[in-house]
Amino acid sequence: MNYPTSVKIIEVGPRDGLQNEKVLIDVTTKLALINQLANAGIDYIEAGSFVSPKWVPQMAGSDEVFTKLPKGTTTYAALTPNMQGLQRAMACDVKEVAVFAAASESFSQKNINCTIDDSLERFAPVISTAIKSGIAVRGYISCVLGCPYEGTIAPDQVAELTDKLLTMGCYEVSLGDTIGVGTPGSTHRLLERLLAQFPADKLAVHMHDTYGQALANILIALQHGISVIDSSVAGLGGCPYANGASGNVATEDLVYMLDGLGIDHGVDLQALINAGNRICAKLDRENGAKVARAFQ
Ligand code: HMG
Ligand code: MG
Repeated sequence: MNYPTSVKIIEVGPRDGLQNEKVLIDVTTKLALINQLANAGIDYIEAGSFVSPKWVPQMAGSDEVFTKLPKGTTTYAALTPNMQGLQRAMACDVKEVAVFAAASESFSQKNINCTIDDSLERFAPVISTAIKSGIAVRGYISCVLGCPYEGTIAPDQVAELTDKLLTMGCYEVSLGDTIGVGTPGSTHRLLERLLAQFPADKLAVHMHDTYGQALANILIALQHGISVIDSSVAGLGGCPYANGASGNVATEDLVYMLDGLGIDHGVDLQALINAGNRICAKLDRENGAKVARAFQ
């Protein structure tokens, strides 16, 4: 079996994780978490999002978080759903942003209050302005393996949107299994379809673990040559617009699996576990990483 020799881990815990936790986390605690993750060796961290604070109150302090982050080699990225979000990001000197679309109309409406076509229209100036300003733009597609409102999503639908986001200037598209319904079978079918049209280095996977399939789906993605994997420390989070969605695959569990496969990732597992335990204590919740529990 051919696997990539190294994997880039996109740590989304401070954004995707904390956005859906019930306990509101203050800026100081967010900064401590982000610094601990960077010190554990993670060099790409999604540190917040510039969305409406009325829609996602947990991300309200993102301006202050980004302003106070240390300058260095770590990439700190943010979600920007519209020009207002991009302007906030630029005011904080953010170097990388992400736009987020959905493969299902219903989810697009619930998540960002517009149709898929309208969302692409909104993203066009965000992407072009960002690129002109030297800010790289990542694209997300939600519900690639199923939608909480519409059920099954056809791989062709995901391919069409992937094509649009890449053509608009996103350097990579992260495929979101928002509600974690995918299985190795459906992941394989989706990737076979996408890889017939796009190179593996334009794709990343973003697997939520609601049905316990995330690691298995990631293994399939690795076998298809995908080497950018999103994950969340301690398996934090979910999605505010997808009932019952649990967090992303835990970064600790991902790192442990990559170690077993002999794939480089650059992360110190024990330091990562310590960071996850600290934020879980603040959130008063059990650590969602199986590996962290096993190490206790
Ligand atoms: P809207 O209500 O249609 O926007 O929301 P609007 O342009 O009509 O503005 C309404 C109000 O929001 C105005 O304020 C704007 O100023 C304000 P008011 O005049 O009422 O006081 N507003 C903003 N404020 C701050 N920053 C902004 C901003 N934009 C407007 N950027 C909008 C549209 C997109 C803003 C809204 O629906 C929203 O913020 N949604 C957030 C959704 C979200 O964050 N979801 C979670 C992240 S996506 C995800 O988790 C999936 C992912 O992980 C992949 C996966 O798992 O599938 C990425
Ligand atoms: Mg997500």
